[in-house]
Amino acid sequence: MPVLPPWVSDPAGPAAREIVPLYWIMFAAAVIVLAIVDGGLIWAGMRYRERPGVPAKQFHGHNLLELLWTVIPTIMVVSFSILSFQRLLVLNDVDTGADMTIKVVGRQWSFSFEYPKEYKGVSFLTSKVKLEMTSQDVIHSFWIPNLGGKKDLVPGRTTFLALQADRVGEFKGQCFEFCGDGHADMLLRVVVHPTSEYATWAKTAIEDYNRRNSEETKAGRELFKTLACAGCHTITGLTGGKVGPPLTNIASKKDIAGVLSPVNEENLRKWISNPPGVKPGTQMPNLNLDQDTISKIVQFLLTQK
Ligand code: CUA
Repeated sequence: MPVLPPWVSDPAGPAAREIVPLYWIMFAAAVIVLAIVDGGLIWAGMRYRERPGVPAKQFHGHNLLELLWTVIPTIMVVSFSILSFQRLLVLNDVDTGADMTIKVVGRQWSFSFEYPKEYKGVSFLTSKVKLEMTSQDVIHSFWIPNLGGKKDLVPGRTTFLALQADRVGEFKGQCFEFCGDGHADMLLRVVVHPTSEYATWAKTAIEDYNRRNSEETKAGRELFKTLACAGCHTITGLTGGKVGPPLTNIASKKDIAGVLSPVNEENLRKWISNPPGVKPGTQMPNLNLDQDTISKIVQFLLTQK
């Protein structure tokens, strides 16, 4: 899955495509204004400067010029406002076609996302996700440049933003309102899955969530800390054993002890039940744990991603 650098001029969805032309129009206008103003300044400076024997020319006022540099910027500002407003109408239509609402809460310094328990979203490439956003402390801002649109998260208020992508990929974003020391750490990542993979992802995400919050996992964590496991294995923030391999990311590894793959419930159970039986000569002994203890430890290890 491609990870794209955040970049406004590479639209990956309808909202971004609405904004990009306006971005280029304003950019072009700014370049032209810069060229005329700075060009004029440099030209006038050279043309009328003081030279040996020639005193600098003195001017006061020029009706036509003053009229032009009042009228032209006014026309520009009004046109940009109209163009921006037209696009805002499109961007603010967050409901049409949206088939999932995700609640977003900003706080110093992270975003949290609450997915609906029931989701209809099956076809994600054509569907639209509506974000319902608020903040717990100060103003934050949600921005994924490639997907377009930028909305503030304001304490005590609810704001809405729609995300819609038309290509698969991983899109990066960033909190865009300075919110204190950790502002730069408020990174965002939107992953657009192919339709065929979304259901699997959602299923895994729900399983992971349930596992992290289960009583069995909590019991497994305590057992891991108090049983022989702790003496040999390191899990960052929990245990510091050095004899065996660290298990901090065991659930994301490719195999167990190089012999059992993938790392899943079945294989972890098989391994812990009798390591020398699976891999003769391994340093990990058979601890003769009962099935219930093994289940709890396995559930806990599966949360270590
Ligand atoms: Cu949150 Cu900047």
